[in-house]
Amino acid sequence: MRSQFTKIWHNPMAVRQDTIWERFLSPVIRLMIDEEGLRRYHQSIDWQKEGDRFRRPDVTIPSYYSSQNFHGIEGGYLNPGAAVSYDPITQYVLPPNETLVRQGLIDAIQGQPRRILDLGCGTGSTTLMLKQAFPQAEVIGLDLSPYMLVRAEHKAQTAGLGIQWRHANAEQTGFPDASFDVVTASLLFHETPPAVTQSILRESYRLLLVGGEVLILDGSQKTLRQLEWLNNVFEEPYIRDFAAGSLDAWMGAAGFEAVQTQDLWLIHQVSRGVKPIPAKDSADSVSGARKRVQQYASTTDSTLDSQDLEGFPAPA
Ligand SMILES: C[S@@+](CC[C@H](N)C(=O)[O-])C[C@H]1O[C@@H](n2cnc3c(N)ncnc32)[C@H](O)[C@@H]1O
Repeated sequence: MRSQFTKIWHNPMAVRQDTIWERFLSPVIRLMIDEEGLRRYHQSIDWQKEGDRFRRPDVTIPSYYSSQNFHGIEGGYLNPGAAVSYDPITQYVLPPNETLVRQGLIDAIQGQPRRILDLGCGTGSTTLMLKQAFPQAEVIGLDLSPYMLVRAEHKAQTAGLGIQWRHANAEQTGFPDASFDVVTASLLFHETPPAVTQSILRESYRLLLVGGEVLILDGSQKTLRQLEWLNNVFEEPYIRDFAAGSLDAWMGAAGFEAVQTQDLWLIHQVSRGVKPIPAKDSADSVSGARKRVQQYASTTDSTLDSQDLEGFPAPA
């Protein structure tokens, strides 16, 4: 009998057969992938039990997420097969090179963050790079899929990196106000409807300290609009809405300033924005932010203290 993973791998486009992936890429890429190794990995894990280690009962899965297939996988990221097949495929679909593309987001960070939240972290590829780039920082990867978090944790353990993983909706993370100085999202927003993207941006704004940065890596909206066929590489239910929109405008609407989007290798983009000092009484706001960090530091194990604030990124 075929295992769940075998079924997915052999018929990943269970619903749509007309994507570029299914017609052209999958047959070639499958030749380069150790399918047997992946099948063994898939079978070596009790996904239900491992997923339960992360699953939080207070997390409600939104319908845009559970009602769609992503990348042709039935159930999308709520299917453990997604966690197994994500990395082997992603390495071939982020030209010119997955690490270089992810590095574009890391390089855009201007401060020396002490607390970083990676939203929609998936299997943690960018999260691991964030921890490697900022080893002193407390790094948290957050995702709606407990299975992606299982895979992310395995990778972090293999790499010897101390990262926390959190099952949550990026629209409503449950973290206190002003508790991070960098919030990132890589390859998340082409998979969320624009209304959800805007709500995640508002949540990011709430989570950031004054002067904190949001960094977003995704497909280039400009290129996706110009090269319509790119929207057809995978089954991506919301990519056309993403392409039609403007991340800069959404970030501005969420309150970010100094918003800038730069092309990265033509088909990707990195966007950066800063949480500004509120115009009214900015001195009070800075001292308020300091108080909030002190308060936050005193209620957690975090090593943040007022001295630490000296290294914060300059407010815009
Ligand atoms: C294309 S993957 C990107 C994963 C990873 N950031 C990367 O760069 O490879 C999108 C991820 O976003 C997660 N996701 C989608 N909507 C989410 C939400 N509202 N809250 C948290 N995670 C979400 C999915 O579960 C999936 O793991």
